Amino acid sequence: MTTQTETIDSVLTESRVFDPPSPEAVGAPRWLIEDEATYKRMHAESIENPEAFYGSAAKELHWFRPFDKVVEFESPDAVWFKGGTTNLCYNCVDRHVAEGRGNAIGLVWEGEPTDADGAPEVVSYTYSELQAATSRFANALKARGVKPGDVVTIYMGMVPELAIACLACARLGAVHSVIFGGFASHSIVDRVKDADSSIVVTCDGAWRRGKVVPLKANVDEACAALDGAVKTIICLKRCGNEVAWEDGRDVWWHDAVENEPASCACAELDSESTAFILYTSGSTGKPKGIKHTVGGYMVHTYLTSKYVFNLIPGLDEPTRQLPNGRPLSGQVYWCTADVGWITGHSYIVYGVMANGVPTLMYEGAPDCPDCDRFWDIVERHKVTQFYTAPTAIRAFMKWGRAHCEKHDLSSLQVLGSVGEPINPEAWMWYREVIGRGVCPIVDTWWQTETGGHMLTTMPGAHKTKPGSCGVPFFGVDAAICDEDGTEIEGGGGLLCVRRPWPSMLRGIWGDRDRFIETYWQKFDVNGTVSAGKPSPYYFAGDGAQRDADGYFWIMGRVDDVINVSGHRMGTAEVESSLVAHPAVVEAAVVGIPHEIKGTGIAAFCILEPGSKPADAEAAKALKQALRAHVGEQIGAIAKPDLLRFTDALPKTRSGKIMRRLLRDIAAGNEIAGDTTTLEDRTVIDKLLADES
Ligand code: WTA
Repeated sequence: MTTQTETIDSVLTESRVFDPPSPEAVGAPRWLIEDEATYKRMHAESIENPEAFYGSAAKELHWFRPFDKVVEFESPDAVWFKGGTTNLCYNCVDRHVAEGRGNAIGLVWEGEPTDADGAPEVVSYTYSELQAATSRFANALKARGVKPGDVVTIYMGMVPELAIACLACARLGAVHSVIFGGFASHSIVDRVKDADSSIVVTCDGAWRRGKVVPLKANVDEACAALDGAVKTIICLKRCGNEVAWEDGRDVWWHDAVENEPASCACAELDSESTAFILYTSGSTGKPKGIKHTVGGYMVHTYLTSKYVFNLIPGLDEPTRQLPNGRPLSGQVYWCTADVGWITGHSYIVYGVMANGVPTLMYEGAPDCPDCDRFWDIVERHKVTQFYTAPTAIRAFMKWGRAHCEKHDLSSLQVLGSVGEPINPEAWMWYREVIGRGVCPIVDTWWQTETGGHMLTTMPGAHKTKPGSCGVPFFGVDAAICDEDGTEIEGGGGLLCVRRPWPSMLRGIWGDRDRFIETYWQKFDVNGTVSAGKPSPYYFAGDGAQRDADGYFWIMGRVDDVINVSGHRMGTAEVESSLVAHPAVVEAAVVGIPHEIKGTGIAAFCILEPGSKPADAEAAKALKQALRAHVGEQIGAIAKPDLLRFTDALPKTRSGKIMRRLLRDIAAGNEIAGDTTTLEDRTVIDKLLADES
């Protein structure tokens, strides 16, 4: 069935609906939001009276000075919790100590390498230990001249010191800029330059799939290109690999903290002072430094973590032992993202730690030493909340369910998905194989720019539908507009947010114009934009539709939405259909210029190993079968005009398919624009060389 609107046609229909389970069914202590009526009441209050709703939510956290006003907004500038002073590190660490939970575990870390018996290294920190560690490192930063407002660049592997470095910056009021450890040295150059940062925190190396990624060497290379702009490098010894050293500039982490006192007061920061910047790619090659502030970011990530993952801290009696022998009670939350992405900032570090539930960090790859590593971790640590990305889920599907079935996953209470639309096939697999057919899946839609969850379900409150990210979180006023900013009730359009939310971005570092152009000029609401003023609506850059129950279905970035013969279609929908075919493991769909249709559809497919065609004849037959399959699932309009088989897709290191590169390849154009965020350049070279 095809629903047609003026803007985007959604052509995928998914009718499966699952009721929320009882807490007993998944072993949860209780659901914080017990039913849909409670959600609706709280959501209505949060929209009608944000002052009251967010005012009282914010008071669950510590403020040195109480705020005078909850929110002020003059597009595009929001001020949240005006006049209040607080500190993220205080709320994530010291508050728990002050409330008598200093001996509770706050952070658990597992290294990638395993010993001869197959046992990995496990390290855990209590809140008291975190208080000491963040204080020592904050003092070490201070001793090297770091002041509130200075930008500290952090380029590390997934070690506990990464979280500690972020929290130490937060303690001082320094602004961190974390660069994902998988990026190469030129990404460091761009970001250090843009942020005007003179100090870099790094590691000698990072473990990844049994190999050492030479982080310090990458920083050295970047510094060479930065002409002395970096004055200090603090280097954590992790892998013991050989590193070059520049005396006077370089200092080992252990030496830097050795004589520092284990106490350091948390700076009393204005709610609107900058907490961090995080670079993300936009439609141009130059990454944008997305700026977040202390108070609003803290409150929104705290509140979303609490309700979306159902975090319940402080169950007092130890119920089990960690693999390293320390006692642990209650929940263990695990997000598999890297702290180098917004998901790691918000839902490994700040939001989760502010709730006082232990957060688990894993250093390495999911297939090291074997494809069951994640499930081994879930079993050994008795993980209760598990948050990952659809691209990972599809990899697990490909590796086969036997890896999961080897392990006891019965500790899991809530499953989460983030980063891209999840295709219903992967959703169902996640629920059945990982979630024992009972765990609720929260599919959370949000962005680096939004800081925290925007659209999601809550585990005890909402029915779930495979492929839908659910409904607006508290305080989020989401709508779907057409190109002119007119709201659309049914059908697809452009996702926008009609009023400010606490963790909204406060700007692009050093680029006010780009901030306004990118996010605040799309919708000419009440003629604001025509009058030369920013729109009151935030433009998310995603296409979406809302169904009769008010559930949102993300159709991908609007630049990934294609218009075929005047029908717009979400590329994610065609991809979802392709991967639903047994021969296809992963697919990427882009638009290509087409003489008659305007835009045609090009699909790049990774095939199941057993389905790879033996010769050209077989390849042709399979392509025909796939076209027929998509035609059957969606309609003739969605049949790919061009189908290519490939062994890999060009992806960013966070796993996002770089569609603009595929568009160039499909259209036979030169590869234009930046390719520095590409994980593996050879993927592109192979696609260019091979016409299959
Ligand atoms: C996409 C990641 C569908 C979306 C947190 C958004 C999603 C972009 C979902 C932001 C989801 C993220 N369903 N699409 N649950 N979550 N996206 O900044 O296109 O890395 O605009 O933030 O990812 O990516 P970012």
